[in-house]
Amino acid sequence: MTSPAPIYQYSALTAADQASLAASVIRVGTATPVGARYLPQLERTVAARIGRAAAVAVASGSSALELAIRGLNIGPGQEVIIPEVGWVSIGTAVANSGAAVRVAPVVATLTPGWEQIEPLINSATAAVVLAHLRGRPAPGISRISAELAVRGIPLIEDCAQAWEVFADGRPAGSWGTVAVFSTQAYKMIATGEGGLLLADDPEFLSMIRALAGDTRQPFPGAVWRGNHRMTELSAALAQPQLDHLSVLAETLRCLQRRTVAALAGLDRLSAVVPEQQDIPATNGSIVGLWLSAPEQARRLADAYHHAGMRSWWPGPGDLHTADAWPSQPDRHLTDVRCYLDLQIPWLPEERHPSFATAAAVVAADALGRCAR
Ligand SMILES: Cc1ncc(COP(=O)(O)O)c(C=O)c1O
Repeated sequence: MTSPAPIYQYSALTAADQASLAASVIRVGTATPVGARYLPQLERTVAARIGRAAAVAVASGSSALELAIRGLNIGPGQEVIIPEVGWVSIGTAVANSGAAVRVAPVVATLTPGWEQIEPLINSATAAVVLAHLRGRPAPGISRISAELAVRGIPLIEDCAQAWEVFADGRPAGSWGTVAVFSTQAYKMIATGEGGLLLADDPEFLSMIRALAGDTRQPFPGAVWRGNHRMTELSAALAQPQLDHLSVLAETLRCLQRRTVAALAGLDRLSAVVPEQQDIPATNGSIVGLWLSAPEQARRLADAYHHAGMRSWWPGPGDLHTADAWPSQPDRHLTDVRCYLDLQIPWLPEERHPSFATAAAVVAADALGRCAR
């Protein structure tokens, strides 16, 4: 009997349940938000999980970012600080509002700390976006959120890559004035496209619903309303994945732990993240590696690709990095091209040791060849 292939598309694990809910939506025939069943259920479940007053299901993480910026009344003459690593549409949402984009340099966590954000703050700063990246929490978010609160500056917490991540002891998404999640195809909860915006202020949430295109949402005064709605079908696909999310993350963390242990023994790697003690705060989906030169990182990413293992290397032009955006940070504090990461697939437990060993063997071989 052949052993099952590693599952990198986690949404496939709940395919049967998704198909059954999707079929019920199709049978009813009106997959619209009006009279929807799964959309309000998804919004309630996500808000309760993260500990927020409410969630609004929208068309994408990018839509959620645009709505957040618009709902915060950000516009010309103002500035928004965004991280050097994230996704191009963070800056797009700011630029579309007419506000100026200021890019904060990242450190080895791939996120900026308060030390990198504070020097960019001035009287025009209207918001700061902080993204939890690669399934790991952005360190120092409790301090960043407190410092911004004192200054009356809203924090937009980008959790597109942070389903089931815990930041400073709380779910990622519970710190920002607004939090955004994505359910795009490569995310831990994948519906093709989709997103959610979470917040606590009822007035702000009503405005977001109106701006997002909820035609039943009353709003004081006339306002231009768009269409950023998630479909009922997407919500039906998300719900079984959400119900399975904690179990999935726990299974992934087991293999992540083994893989970190196997890679940590290689002396050609400058660092392996997360460290063992930080694993419970991650969603288990990724092991990050730092190398001493971009060429080594590129080669190792290639080697993993050839070995059939999924990895990400933020090389030139990658839309996750400021390198490919119209705005850059004033200075770089770390060369993100020296970073790559390995995605942890879902595998039955008996196959965990062989995956972890293969991850280390491929790395030792590729880096050994770099040195020769
Ligand atoms: C950090 C981050 N923010 C925002 C987004 C945008 O989400 P979406 O693709 O759902 O628009 C992404 C998508 O990759 C992301 O990685």
